[in-house]
Amino acid sequence: MSDKATLEYSGKKYEFPVVKGTEDELAIDIKRLRSETGMITIDPGYKNTGSCESAITYLDGEQGILRYRGYSIEELAEKASFLEVAYLLIFGELPNKQQLDKFYSDIAEEEEVDEDVKKIVDSFPRTAHPMGVIASLTSALTAFNPSAVNIESEEDMYNAIVKILGKFPVLVAWTLRKRIGRPYDYGDNTLGYIENMMMMMFKRPNKPYKMNPVVVDAMDKLLILHADHEQNCSTSTVRIVGSSHAGLFASLSAGVSALWGPLHGGANQAVIEMLEAIKADGGDTAKYMEKAKDKNDPFRLMGFGHRVYKNFDPRARIIKKAADEVLADLGIDDPILDIAKALEKQALEDPYFVERKLYPNVDFYSGIIYRALGVPTSMFTVMFAMGRLPGWIAQWREMRLRKEPIGRPRQVYIGETYRKFKPLEER
Ligand code: SDX
Repeated sequence: MSDKATLEYSGKKYEFPVVKGTEDELAIDIKRLRSETGMITIDPGYKNTGSCESAITYLDGEQGILRYRGYSIEELAEKASFLEVAYLLIFGELPNKQQLDKFYSDIAEEEEVDEDVKKIVDSFPRTAHPMGVIASLTSALTAFNPSAVNIESEEDMYNAIVKILGKFPVLVAWTLRKRIGRPYDYGDNTLGYIENMMMMMFKRPNKPYKMNPVVVDAMDKLLILHADHEQNCSTSTVRIVGSSHAGLFASLSAGVSALWGPLHGGANQAVIEMLEAIKADGGDTAKYMEKAKDKNDPFRLMGFGHRVYKNFDPRARIIKKAADEVLADLGIDDPILDIAKALEKQALEDPYFVERKLYPNVDFYSGIIYRALGVPTSMFTVMFAMGRLPGWIAQWREMRLRKEPIGRPRQVYIGETYRKFKPLEER
C-alpha cells in the first residue's frame, strides 16, 4: 500500500504523505497543502477531517467497537471501577493497587470546595438549567484555585487533575441540591468515589443515607460508558480551548457547554422527554416514527443515529441490558422502558432508519437508568459530563504533552469583494 497520496489540479501533481494508525486507519497528511498548492480543504462538521493523532480511545463505527487504551468497553464496564478507568484514560495504563489508592487519596483530599462557591450557586434561580450552572461553577473554580491556571509541568497537570476530579462531584451535588431546595453539604471522603458522590447528591438533611450497592454499581458502570469517545464535539471543544493554553478548568467548562446541546449530550434528557410525550400521547410510537421521517417535521428520534457509529453503539447494548437489570433489582416497572423498546424494534425494521444506518446510541437508554437511580431528568446531561470528565482531562493532557499547535482553522470567504465606503448621506 502506497505511503503517498497524489493530488492533481490544473495540470500540476502534488504528493502528500499517508499516515497509518495502529488500527490501520489511513489519513492524508495535508500539513503542507496550502504552502504547496495555495489551496485548503473544506469539510463542514469535520466529517472527513482528523484533528489529531491520539492514543486514548479507538472506535470503529462500522463494527461497533469501542476501546479505551486498547481495553474493550465491554470488559471495562464489567470488571473495572470508574476511577480505574479514569486513571487508565489519563495516564495510559490500568493502575496497580498502590497507584489506585494514591490516586484516590489525592482526589479525596480535594473533595471540598471553597465556601464562597456556595454564594455563586445561590445566585442562580432554582429554575436555571443544571448544565449552565455546572459550566459556570467549573469555570469559577479557576478563581478559587489559581495554581491550576498556568499549567506547564506534569506535576502542575497532576495537581490540577486531582483537584477537578475531587471537586466536580461536589459541584454536581450542589447543582442538584440547589434545584431541589436542599442544603449544600459534603458527603464523607472516607467512602468510595461513587458512594461519596451519591451521598452528596441524595442524602436528606434529616436522615441517614442508606447506600444501595445496586445503585452504586449501576452509576459506576454508566460513568465508565460515558468516560471518553475520541474527538466528539465536546472533546474537540476542550482540545481547541486548551490549545490556546487556557487552564484545565476553563477548557473543561467549555466542554460542558458543548455537551449541553441536544444533538450531543443533551440528547439523554431529550430522549426521556420524547418518551414521556409518546406515553402521554397514548404510546403511539408509530406516529412518532412517521414524524421522525418527515423532512418537514423538525422532530428527530432522539437517542438514535450517530456521526460515527453506523452499527449499534456498543454502549447502548450494555446500557439496555443494565436498564433491565437495575429496574428488576429495584423492583421498578417503568412503562417508558417498554415504549423505548417498541421504538427500537420498529426503527430497526424501518427502511428509513435501516438505509441511514440509524441505531440507538448511548443516550437512548441511559436516562431510564438515571431516572431509576433518582436522578432528575434535568440533571441527566450533568451526569454525562461527570462520566466524560476523565476523557476530557485525558485528551486535554495528551494535547498539551504533545505540544499541539493552537487550533485555528481556515475558511473559504464567500462575502462581498472590495467596495468603497459610502457616507451616510449617500446611503
Ligand atoms: C452523542 O460524536 C460522539 O461520539 C457523540 C457521543 C459521545 O459519546 O460523545 O456519542 C454522544 O452525542 C450521541 C448522539 C446523541 N444525539 C442524538 O441522539 C440526537 C439525534 N441524532 C441526530 O441528531 C444525529 O443522528 C446526530 C447528530 C447524532 C448525527 O448527525 P450526523 O452525523 O450529522 O448525520 P445527519 O444529521 O447528516 O443525518 C443523516 C441522515 C439525515 O437524513 P437525510 O438528509 O440523509 O435524508 O439521517 C437522518 C438525517 O435527517 N437522521 C435522523 C436522525 N439522525 C439522523 N432522522 C431521524 N431521527 C434521527 N435521530
